[in-house]
Amino acid sequence: MIKRVLSGIRATGRLHLGNYLGAVKGMLELQNDPGYETLFMVADIHTITTPFNIDELRKNRREVITDYLAAGLNPEKSIIFLQSEVSEHIELAFYFSSVTTIARMQHLPTYKDKVKQHPGHNTMALLNYPVLMAADILIYKASLVPVGIDQEPHLEVTREIARKMNQQYGTDFPEPVRFATKGEYIPSLKGEGKMSKSVEGSYINMTDDLDTIKIKLSKVPTDSGKEGGPIPKIGGVRSLYELYKLFAPEKFDEDFTKPYESGLIRYQSLKNHLAEITYKELKPIQEKRKKLETDIAFVDNVIKEGAEKARTIASKTVNEVRQKMGLL
Ligand code: TYM
Repeated sequence: MIKRVLSGIRATGRLHLGNYLGAVKGMLELQNDPGYETLFMVADIHTITTPFNIDELRKNRREVITDYLAAGLNPEKSIIFLQSEVSEHIELAFYFSSVTTIARMQHLPTYKDKVKQHPGHNTMALLNYPVLMAADILIYKASLVPVGIDQEPHLEVTREIARKMNQQYGTDFPEPVRFATKGEYIPSLKGEGKMSKSVEGSYINMTDDLDTIKIKLSKVPTDSGKEGGPIPKIGGVRSLYELYKLFAPEKFDEDFTKPYESGLIRYQSLKNHLAEITYKELKPIQEKRKKLETDIAFVDNVIKEGAEKARTIASKTVNEVRQKMGLL
């Protein structure tokens, strides 16, 4: 049987390098493998689980679709859609919430982080975030999910829900696993934590031009470069190292590891080079995006057809679940 793949990104703004390397690259790899049927959505409903601006949300859900298409997601190979256009996700999430305890949700690190970030906004929607994510995946019976490592706790919840539903109601949900890319954890440019939209100064946007990337990288904190020894495990040097390794895998030993170890590293020229190789990968995506921005009808059509195709699969699963749970 053909395996299904599902992934999504929230509509919180334009995509950054962490989203691209941790998620989109994995989506592309699986889309181009004929062994998989791929579905990629914009998780616009998940966006309302933290404070948001209505006009921005309306704009961003389309922006992320356009970013997907610019990066190479192809509507002829993948079903590309907006989560909110397939309301069956919400229905299934409610059924799933009946096999999920509040305590389990409260203990998730992702939930605790968000409550810390937005203390006045500890809502039911936020608590339910992973249940909706489980519904996103299981409604298509997807068994492979290309996401960054930060999403692993949510996949664990998804597997637990699948197991419980199968035991209690005899459904046939798979237990999905993460499809990891080499960039599964892109560290922050500030040298602490991960690259994240919610931390100013931590990220490079996929739309940044060469000068912007140069300026951002020039601000990454480093050491004197003369210390030598092994590459530090944390901090700005580590962030540069991880990015260098991803963008120049064949040269990073010679350009980075060896000069660092012998205390001869020159950060300025290294940062400039890193900016150039990063931009080289982003440039064709940015050019394609410019063309897509003027092709409104094409993007509209992708959104419309994606929703129709997704709905066909989703409604079948929801009907099965209603039947098994005695609601039909
Ligand atoms: P979001 O919008 O927070 O993140 C989108 C994707 O980008 C990855 N990512 C990173 N990967 C590596 N390094 C980083 N610094 C980095 N920052 C972000 C995330 O791991 C994610 O893959 N819950 C999801 C959205 C979602 C979803 C789903 C995903 C909703 N339903 C169903 C898969 C399947 C999220 O947090 O997106």
